[in-house]
Amino acid sequence: MTFEKTKKLANGSIIPRLGLGVWQVKDGEEAVDSVKWALDAGYRLIDTAAVYKNEVGVGEGIRKSDVPREEIFVTTKLWNTDQGYETTLKAFDESLNKLGLDYVDLYLIHWPVKDKYKDSWRAMEEIYRSGRAKAIGVSNFHEHHIDDLLTTAEIVPMVDQIELHPALTQEPLRKFLAEKNIAVEAWSPLGQGKILENATLVEIGKKYNKTAAQVIIRWHLQSDIIVIPKSVHQDRIKQNIDVFDFELTEEDIKQINQLNKNERFGSNPEKFDF
Ligand code: A2P
Repeated sequence: MTFEKTKKLANGSIIPRLGLGVWQVKDGEEAVDSVKWALDAGYRLIDTAAVYKNEVGVGEGIRKSDVPREEIFVTTKLWNTDQGYETTLKAFDESLNKLGLDYVDLYLIHWPVKDKYKDSWRAMEEIYRSGRAKAIGVSNFHEHHIDDLLTTAEIVPMVDQIELHPALTQEPLRKFLAEKNIAVEAWSPLGQGKILENATLVEIGKKYNKTAAQVIIRWHLQSDIIVIPKSVHQDRIKQNIDVFDFELTEEDIKQINQLNKNERFGSNPEKFDF
């Protein structure tokens, strides 16, 4: 199966299909090093969020690398307590300031905060039109959240970033998003590292001399899912992008799809309380 290393979003933005996630990466040296190592290893997408509290380090890592800003796709996210029209505009400026950037490539509403996300989205649309976010989208939105948002939205979100891994394959939601031309991006794509000893994944990996992590990343890529594995270790950061020299068979993909248990490691968007 061949695919480009990038994907075109509905608005024409080009997003790398594989990036570095930095949830739980500490600001300062850890964030700076991880980002710099990733860019050195060939990553061109970095995914952070205001609530991760490492936007300063992420920006510093970007500036420390030799990769020009325009070649890097930077995502950040609006935190829940900042939702609302005016507060979104303010929070976005703060994120840009912390990152030390004059635009981001993608700005996401982090969670579907009830009675707020429509007002937030109006601000997101304004930010998009100003050119300071090259694309906008949502995270943790289910079908009904998207349908509700679309009753007032002028711009359809370009991305929905959701928890997605072999133990939570999200097939119905992925189908819904595909029909709406909303790109699917996976958070905790490795199941927070908790599924890396799964025998099926390990066995599949042996055929290709790859680790379970690499098999999972390849499964995301071959399933048209944008994937942002997190690691703070240089060897793993390198390992996680070394996935373009092998191909899973349809049978492998089927076997991995069957690992689905609808098991979440993070919060359920129907029940979150933060
Ligand atoms: P660490 O940051 O210590 O390397 P996810 O992206 O699903 O949230 O998973 C991230 C978790 O998986 C982190 O705990 C990370 O640990 C670990 N991890 C990332 N890449 C690998 C890998 N190639 N092998 C083993 N563990 C990994």
